[in-house]
Amino acid sequence: MAKPKRRYVCTECGSVATRWQGQCVDCSQWNTLVEEAPGTVFSMRHDLSTGGRPVVLEALDAPSEPLVRRSTGLAEFDRALGGGIVPGSAILMGGEPGIGKSTLLLQAAAAMAKSGAPTVYISGEEATGQVRLRAARLGLAGAPLGLAAATSVRDILTTLNSAPPPALLVVDSIQTMHSDTIEGAPGSVSQVRASAFELIRYAKENGVALVLVGHVTKDGTIAGPRVLEHMVDVVMSFEGERSHQYRILRALKNRFGAVEEIGVFAMEGHGLAEVSNPSMLFLSGREQPLAGSSVFPALEGTRPVLVEVQALIVRLQSGATPRRAVVGWDSGRLAMLLAVLEARCGLSFSSAEVYLNVAGGYRLTDPAADLAVAAALVSALADKPLPLRAIWFGEVSLSGEVRPVAHAGLRLREASKLGFDTGCGPEDGLKDLAGLRYFGLESLPKLVDRII
Ligand code: TYD
Ligand code: MG
Repeated sequence: MAKPKRRYVCTECGSVATRWQGQCVDCSQWNTLVEEAPGTVFSMRHDLSTGGRPVVLEALDAPSEPLVRRSTGLAEFDRALGGGIVPGSAILMGGEPGIGKSTLLLQAAAAMAKSGAPTVYISGEEATGQVRLRAARLGLAGAPLGLAAATSVRDILTTLNSAPPPALLVVDSIQTMHSDTIEGAPGSVSQVRASAFELIRYAKENGVALVLVGHVTKDGTIAGPRVLEHMVDVVMSFEGERSHQYRILRALKNRFGAVEEIGVFAMEGHGLAEVSNPSMLFLSGREQPLAGSSVFPALEGTRPVLVEVQALIVRLQSGATPRRAVVGWDSGRLAMLLAVLEARCGLSFSSAEVYLNVAGGYRLTDPAADLAVAAALVSALADKPLPLRAIWFGEVSLSGEVRPVAHAGLRLREASKLGFDTGCGPEDGLKDLAGLRYFGLESLPKLVDRII
């Protein structure tokens, strides 16, 4: 028999190489190739004279089963899922350690169990005693869910197959699972993939909604091969700053719905509380106008969320390289905005340290935030506070132009409802609203004129 060939699999993109290399040829990541147990090699051509059965080709408009959704018992979770959990679907829940994934899923599992849907929670990380302790702290000790501490996929499937399938199966986490169909330690690429594959197959065959918890690496991607993201129907990310109270649940991929709505939670002493009206959440404690602080009306799906952006500029005396530090926004975008402010408005940040922070642990992804960040930077540089009740939004181009953004009217109406009296944004034919004056700014120099 021919000696089985060694194979090396990239932990980022899952591509296979026949020899080890420092850099993956497909995704260009460094040090991501790991050796995998050799698999069986099949002949690359099917013998069509045996086996095989034709599949039926259907019309696109053939009648199909309507999509059923079931409530998780947490309205914010349902919202992020696009209206509830779909039986037979596989969900990957990513998030940093300690952010609250286990807490969220225990709460959802308990709520579903209480509503009469059979639920199983498998913990591969904590002993049942620890999970029980948490349940007691959350006031959920009485929920009728099935709990087990297990890491062997064979044991888990044997247990599940000996009873009617549950409506929800939580596996916390996929990196701790071990399948004996394949070699390798738990957490290795091949193990994560094989374990996920078996659990997902069980879920699909039995109409079980499966949630796999996945750890996240430093750069925010779910540890293990990217293929895990392709194998599941929904990829969710649970985000927030551990030092802050608020948590955001976001769908990054959803085969059953839109990915724009978010779920908002607050981590409290007795678990995660749902925040159904998040619009004022990230604005806490703004009583006096302060230089370097601006308010941005972000839009999360259909809900506006007002967020405070804070900038601090420290002039350096020596010729040391100035620092730029960003929390909650893209650092590349900040570098671009600073360059545009220098090139188009004649402001100089080159000998100053620039710190930017989005309040409350919120992470801004909306391109309309550019103008609010620029306003905070200019205000900090000039040491001039912005009006306390003003909002700023608009996308900034490399030429310094302020571009129109989606849903400007919705952003203004929400701000007006919450007592803001000034709106500054693109010149987009927007008008004053009841109680709110609107100023259209065509470019960044106009913004600087308004502030300084
Ligand atoms: P956990 O759900 O264990 O996070 P993950 O599974 O994502 O690693 O949550 C851990 C943190 O949540 C822990 O640091 C303490 C905090 N926490 C609370 O503040 N209140 C609570 O009621 C619970 C259960 C946890
Ligand atoms: Mg956990």
